[in-house]
Amino acid sequence: MKKLLLLLLIVGFSLSASAQRIALMGALDQEIAILLDSMQGQKKVSRGGIDFYKGKLKGKKVVILKAGVGKVNSAYSTAVLTENFKISSLIFTGVAGGLDPEALPGDLVIGEKLVQYDFGKVDSLGFSVSPFRKLSGGAHDELFIDSDKDLLRISESAAQKVVFVPIANRQPKVFSGVIATGDIFVSSNEKAKWLYTEFEALATEMEGAAVAHICRTLDIPFIVIRSCSDNANNHARMNFNQFVGPASENSARLVLAILGQME
Ligand code: ADE
Repeated sequence: MKKLLLLLLIVGFSLSASAQRIALMGALDQEIAILLDSMQGQKKVSRGGIDFYKGKLKGKKVVILKAGVGKVNSAYSTAVLTENFKISSLIFTGVAGGLDPEALPGDLVIGEKLVQYDFGKVDSLGFSVSPFRKLSGGAHDELFIDSDKDLLRISESAAQKVVFVPIANRQPKVFSGVIATGDIFVSSNEKAKWLYTEFEALATEMEGAAVAHICRTLDIPFIVIRSCSDNANNHARMNFNQFVGPASENSARLVLAILGQME
């Protein structure tokens, strides 16, 4: 009887482990297009108004979804995802505005830490950012949310083997560092400089820290991969339109390489 129970436990455990999937998210159609094209055995299911694509990539069970633009859409998508699927880890892929004066359109940033730069208070001294709050409201005084150390290591090593599409006639470089998230498309030299000096952020985008916040709350290992479509400066909109396609492709190429290296 004891042996039977043990066997049932082992079978149950391996079944639930095999039901787990790696979630791959992007905010825009372009950001997930290559992943969807490369997927095997694709099956679509819709939950909560979101289309989820189940299948395999690089031999791994994955689920791909479009998160939508901004913190609310991406937080909602992550919540629906985690309520409906067993997620072993999550990789967010897409484009960003580069902030480091060294980083040019095309360069990639692997998110070591994520920060919500527009969550805070305004008083007579101006705006100051606050650490994110736990659901319970308790103090969880992290301004920066760390991405998963193993995924970070794998991403950095995978990046060295990827052949990236050249952008603006140059081969992209890869950086690791802080990514700053807010509900703003930044197209301002001053704001870009502020994000770089205040948070040492290398890139800015509109979803990463919201997804990170939920993953942190639910203990799901995550990493955010971004490829700079622009420099968040006064020319950002024009550069974004020009480079969103190839930059999305490079970020997805890195995701495929990461999946290839994951156990
Ligand atoms: N995503 C791509 N470029 C961006 C920018 N400049 N600001 C916010 N999100 C972005």
